[in-house]
Amino acid sequence: MQRDVIIACDFSSSEETLNFLDNFSDQKPYLKIGMELYYAQGPQIVRTLKTRGHKIFLDLKLHDIPNTVEKAMRVLSRLEVDMVNLHAAGTGAMMEAALQGLTRPDGSRPLLIAVTQLTSTTESVMRQELLIDQTLNDVVMHYALNAKQAGLDGVVCSPLETKQVHAHCGDDFLTVTPGIRFADAGQDDQRRVTTPRKAKELGSDFIVVGRPITAAKDPLEAYRRCMHDFI
Ligand code: C5P
Repeated sequence: MQRDVIIACDFSSSEETLNFLDNFSDQKPYLKIGMELYYAQGPQIVRTLKTRGHKIFLDLKLHDIPNTVEKAMRVLSRLEVDMVNLHAAGTGAMMEAALQGLTRPDGSRPLLIAVTQLTSTTESVMRQELLIDQTLNDVVMHYALNAKQAGLDGVVCSPLETKQVHAHCGDDFLTVTPGIRFADAGQDDQRRVTTPRKAKELGSDFIVVGRPITAAKDPLEAYRRCMHDFI
């Protein structure tokens, strides 16, 4: 599996997204489309970006009953996205149904990645609100293993967790890691950040980079710097 840098297109319109991509001329970076852009523009934004030659990680974090997720995944698979995700909390049955829905008649399918616990969820919230009486780390590793056993390809996690995820689930189980910042820049609202170079050392398979590229004075230069340090 080829490591790659995925740019988080956290924009609210096609126009803003396409203006941003004008910075890249002949380069075709892997892009993440999240809920904001997808709900604003619908599947057409995915088709447009695929036609322009980009790989797409559709970050919609599905979580529903297995039958509903299977049918939704079938629709997303037809959009020819390259990676999609769901919440591991939806259970093994939901994850297996998602895989079935994603698999195209020719046997090909997008990569399917699980969210374990959102980084916005603290251990005390998990214990007090969700009544999960385990350490956050144990829950993350257990959900990663559930995802692996259901046949998924990997998890979204912190670069600081990649070694442990690989130790639990195998080196070929993918780690998709946000929270990336250059050493000479601010953290924004991210708490624990890692440089692209450090993420590579720690074994990340994909880094997801938003503002360090989207808000840079020269986005192409920032993207090239990420690629240089990570690949
Ligand atoms: O701008 P920044 O580099 O912080 O963007 C990171 C991207 O990764 C955003 O789209 C954010 O929603 C996403 N993400 C994250 N932390 C997670 C899961 C997703 O930052 N645990």
